[in-house]
Amino acid sequence: MDIGVFIPIGRNGWLVSTTSPQYNPSFELNKQTTLNAERYGFDFALSMIKLRGFGGQSGFWDQNLESFTLMAGLAAITSRIKLYATVPTLVIPPAIAARMGVTIDSISNGRFGLNIITGWQRPEYSQMGLWPGDEYFARRYDFAAEYVQIMQELWATGRSDFKGEFFKMEDCRLEPRPQTPIKLISAGQSEAGMKFIAKYADYNFVFGMGFNTPTACAPTVDRLQKASAVSGRTVATYGLFMIIAGETDAEAKAKWDLYKSGADHEALRWLTQQSNADTKSGTDTNVRHMSSEVSNVNLNIGLLCGSYASVAKMMDEIDAIPGLAGVLLTFDEFVSGTKMFGERIQPLMKTRQHVVQSLKAAE
Ligand SMILES: Cc1cc2nc3c(=O)[nH]c(=O)nc-3n(C[C@H](O)[C@H](O)[C@H](O)COP(=O)(O)O)c2cc1C
Repeated sequence: MDIGVFIPIGRNGWLVSTTSPQYNPSFELNKQTTLNAERYGFDFALSMIKLRGFGGQSGFWDQNLESFTLMAGLAAITSRIKLYATVPTLVIPPAIAARMGVTIDSISNGRFGLNIITGWQRPEYSQMGLWPGDEYFARRYDFAAEYVQIMQELWATGRSDFKGEFFKMEDCRLEPRPQTPIKLISAGQSEAGMKFIAKYADYNFVFGMGFNTPTACAPTVDRLQKASAVSGRTVATYGLFMIIAGETDAEAKAKWDLYKSGADHEALRWLTQQSNADTKSGTDTNVRHMSSEVSNVNLNIGLLCGSYASVAKMMDEIDAIPGLAGVLLTFDEFVSGTKMFGERIQPLMKTRQHVVQSLKAAE
């Protein structure tokens, strides 16, 4: 099983609460997190792009760094871990994103990839005058399809003359080309998102689900794997999970109960409003998923909550989900969380013994 960390590029990570650890994103925080991840054998680090926070008393995501520039900094101070930035396709022209990708490919010596997002929250873009109108909701993945074709042409051949509905290239040039093919992630879950992934992406993501139900996302993994099989390409699926751990199950549960007790209802109301704005995608977009009432204090990311041994056991169960290549992890606190994972959880995981052994051998 591959393991990645969804680094804390935005305020308070993935807990919409006033009683969870309160912190602002900084290079130092993301540097310590990523260096820990590299040290303990994580396979990759991914940063998201969010251009507008949810406000509320906790100021959730009101502070956010920019993904490419953060990953460029991290590329310069790491040597092994793979790094993924997220490109807001509505904002950055594809030829510029392709060139930024090549630059980080060069800084990282071939360890760089890109997460393609269409954007789903109108104010992120309308605040800059860059929202194309609500008809975009239904066309998001048509737009993204043209976008990645241009990037892929530029990376593969150094030129693009692409003429589409959204983009027109005119003998567009890009040199140097990447030293290693730049892999693409997309986390689309809607029908349109999945078709896009099947054609263009190398990796996709499902939201882990529920409280200590590590395999609840198995049907979605199956759905994504079947959707991508149609194109005859291989797309590796990863699950997104949050870990809240402690010495005992009770200690971990007490932390989760504390975070839930401080749920920032104002920020969560904003999220619900935003996710309901997309009426064009029908019922198949999972953005709404995040605003359901089940455990939205952590954006409904599947939670693994318990002692180190309990979490290790659940991680091994996740590994048994057919078609799942790995997980992307978030923590309640990232610097201590990545260290705790490396020192207390990973050594107990059957499925990560090869990593534990190679880390020992390298000591
Ligand atoms: C791991 C992961 C990372 C994501 N990163 C971002 C991001 O950086 N910015 C963003 O606006 N949406 C992000 N999303 C949302 C997805 O791009 C996508 O819009 C969402 O899963 C809904 O699928 P749909 O677009 O097919 O409706 C992410 C989702 C996941 C699971």
